[in-house]
Amino acid sequence: MIFVSELPTLDPLRAAIRDAFLADETASLEGLLPQAKISADANSRVAEQAHKLVIAVRDQRKTLGGIDAFMREYDLSSEEGVMLMCLAEALLRIPDADTADRLIRDKLAQGKWDKHLGHSNSLFVNASTWSLMLTGRIVQFDRLSVDDIGAFLAGLTARMGEPVIRVALNQAMRIIGHQFVMGRTIEEALKRRHTPEHKDYLHSFDMLGEAALSEEDAERYYISYVDAIGALAQEAKQSSGVYSAPGISIKLSALHPRFEFAKRERVLKELTPRVHALARLARDAGIAITLDTEEADRLDLTLDIFEVIYSGLQSDWNGFGLALQTYQKRAIHVLEWLIKLARKQQRRIPVRLVKGAYWDTEIKLAQQRGLDGYPVFTRKASTDVSYLACAKRTWAARDALYPQFATHNAHTVAFVLEMAGNERGFEFQRLHGMGEELYGEIVGAKKAGVTCRVYAPVGSHEDLLPYLVRRLLENGANTSFVNRISDEKLPVEEITADPVATTLGTKSLSHPRIPLPVDLYDGERRNARGIDLADSAALTSLAHAMTRSMGKPWIAQPIVNGKALRGQKKAITNPSDRRQIVGHVVEASDREIDKALKVAVATTYEWSRTDIETRAQCLERAA
Ligand code: FAD
Ligand code: 2OP
Repeated sequence: MIFVSELPTLDPLRAAIRDAFLADETASLEGLLPQAKISADANSRVAEQAHKLVIAVRDQRKTLGGIDAFMREYDLSSEEGVMLMCLAEALLRIPDADTADRLIRDKLAQGKWDKHLGHSNSLFVNASTWSLMLTGRIVQFDRLSVDDIGAFLAGLTARMGEPVIRVALNQAMRIIGHQFVMGRTIEEALKRRHTPEHKDYLHSFDMLGEAALSEEDAERYYISYVDAIGALAQEAKQSSGVYSAPGISIKLSALHPRFEFAKRERVLKELTPRVHALARLARDAGIAITLDTEEADRLDLTLDIFEVIYSGLQSDWNGFGLALQTYQKRAIHVLEWLIKLARKQQRRIPVRLVKGAYWDTEIKLAQQRGLDGYPVFTRKASTDVSYLACAKRTWAARDALYPQFATHNAHTVAFVLEMAGNERGFEFQRLHGMGEELYGEIVGAKKAGVTCRVYAPVGSHEDLLPYLVRRLLENGANTSFVNRISDEKLPVEEITADPVATTLGTKSLSHPRIPLPVDLYDGERRNARGIDLADSAALTSLAHAMTRSMGKPWIAQPIVNGKALRGQKKAITNPSDRRQIVGHVVEASDREIDKALKVAVATTYEWSRTDIETRAQCLERAA
């Protein structure tokens, strides 16, 4: 437990990272804007290149098929899109059939499905919109001539019974999932790696699984990584070095059931050796390993583990890498820390720059916890500015870092190409099932000759859910490049706009519709303030306050008619350690409860005539 031991003193670069956690958004951006800027000439070349890329991608996609068309029709700005998203999100984890059936009935009944008919040219969407997937093999094509999908589904539900629909819906989720998963097992994924569609790409395999809830889960995920590294070791033999070999990506939350800052000591003791063992296996296999970054409150701990392992590896292996989310205000500071660490050890660190896949979660968590600010930017263009600034910094420090630019955004790609000029020695990365057309334009000797690595999830649908939800959010959000590029109505200039210019032309650098967590209730009342359990300073002061508090004798007793009642004191013990007495309580007798009720009834009239301000003060005193 964090309170037991003192936290280590942070070096200045780590302290800068900590201080930037909830930093003021405007100040953070003002620092980043000059770093993201490039010359006017360079900017017009980027605009031209991005424009070309978008046109090429759109041309290839003239006939949107399958999942693209589906995501376009049911994006998250439509009510039905949100409903399907909720359904997808909930369905795979509802354990009992009965609840799943009720959820399906509820969700399907609410949607105005018929209004989506006839919008898209795609058979996938148009023939039946949702029902084609929903019913899978069960429904015959000739049934899909119905106009009213809602009534059709209701009828279908009544005719076939909910269990059938549930199975079909689960099947539909698997179909969507298949889009984003490379294989159910590492062997299956490796086989696919050798098919023509993957021939120009490198791969980083991610064994699906995250947020382990039990030691058994963590063990299972660990074993799947050990096996995957074993399988990749064979493949790596044909590669000319760690950056041209296949690699793996791991999520630390999969490998420990309590991967959270408040359990820092235990996590360092138990999780570090597991990651260390995987790192050594990867090193010996000649492949790279990347630590994915997850929720913002896990970053500090991720850096702790990264540093211990990286510094302890004692070899010339340049394959221990980290993903860096630029939507976090801390990103540029983390980069400085990584550069210093790499230069000290004289080994390169592969840095995968991503914008970040947990944006919605971060905003909600900060509001729920009543934090002083957000760890992430609130405007999309700001995240882009941060990405460009980090890209330039990474590129300038390529003696220490191996630059890996993970994006599906044509402007971001064009910016990197402009920055790199004719030089290579870096890689792009895309997710499996996304960005094929974009990278098809630049990958391979006949094109721009750049390298691109595919992040390739491996696993069965049971472990897919959180990953799938993030992909559905990404594809469905109207701020996302991948969503905007498939909307032909949006002018190319709009979707490839320079984020620096956009930001400079914005009056309020923080989003006016995303108030600070504390101002969430718009002046009606202040949001409840939480304690940030991932903030070492907050934890230390909490620990001191708890120690002081434990030194006081605490007694709780009933107050009736303004008088504290005396009686027999009962000891109250700490539920996690029954030997520890935390205070005493005097309980009210039946007679005293009767008396309290009588007093309450007798004073009701007077209370109801008391003005609201006095009543409020009275309640506040009592609270
Ligand atoms: P864009 O459409 O240009 O950007 C979309 C992103 O902008 C959103 O994802 C969000 O980050 C940000 N954004 C959206 N709205 C707002 C707003 N209002 N305010 C501020 N920012 C906003 N993600 C992780 O979190 N951890 C990882 O380890 C990770 N690994 C990845 C590995 C690879 C190979 C790839 C390709 C992606 C990885 N991602 C990871 C996911 C990645 O974060 C998303 O794919 C990425 O954010 C999409 O960025 P883009 O440049 O393609 O798209
Ligand atoms: C995610 O799991 C790709 O790491 C990224 O969403």
